[in-house]
Amino acid sequence: MRKNECVKKKIEKIIKNSLVPEDPIHSKNTLEWLLKLNPDADEALKIAALAHDIERAIEKRKVKRKDYKDYDEFKNAHALNSANISVEIMKECNVSTELADDAFHLIRFHETGGSRRVNILRGADGVSFFHVNLPEYFSRNGKKETEKRWFWGYRRLSEKEKIIIAKFNYQDEELNTLVTTWLEKSQLCL
Ligand SMILES: [Fe+2]
Repeated sequence: MRKNECVKKKIEKIIKNSLVPEDPIHSKNTLEWLLKLNPDADEALKIAALAHDIERAIEKRKVKRKDYKDYDEFKNAHALNSANISVEIMKECNVSTELADDAFHLIRFHETGGSRRVNILRGADGVSFFHVNLPEYFSRNGKKETEKRWFWGYRRLSEKEKIIIAKFNYQDEELNTLVTTWLEKSQLCL
């Protein structure tokens, strides 16, 4: 257990220094949603929830959107990079190879999904984006980009997760109005 605490502390220390302001809260909030949606989530899932975006916090190593031809390709490279960095941390803390391999796999595929446990992580990550990242994303990228990102994320949610995120209310009235419009639009697109 002490080894797992070592991993979690190292992850927190790295993400605390991210230049993306919402990264520290998103890491913790993804873990919170993981446990809310799956109270018996195992240690590999908990580590993966905290670390899944870790590469974004390391300026020298992070992948850049401009180097990839589309958003999915960029997200795939982001997931692989975060998985590799997470394994380095787990090795430094001497966790078992089984746990390190398991967490690597979860993080590696957290954007694309696949197995039951990968989808659990993807769901918690997706809900957390709408919960804590969206306002910062909106203030940084504006209406057009946020609309694209909103639909990209919304399409990937399960029906249960869609119901959860439809209830979120933001401090920003402009964003609330836009989200209402996008939710209506997504219903029409069904
Ligand atoms: Fe994330």
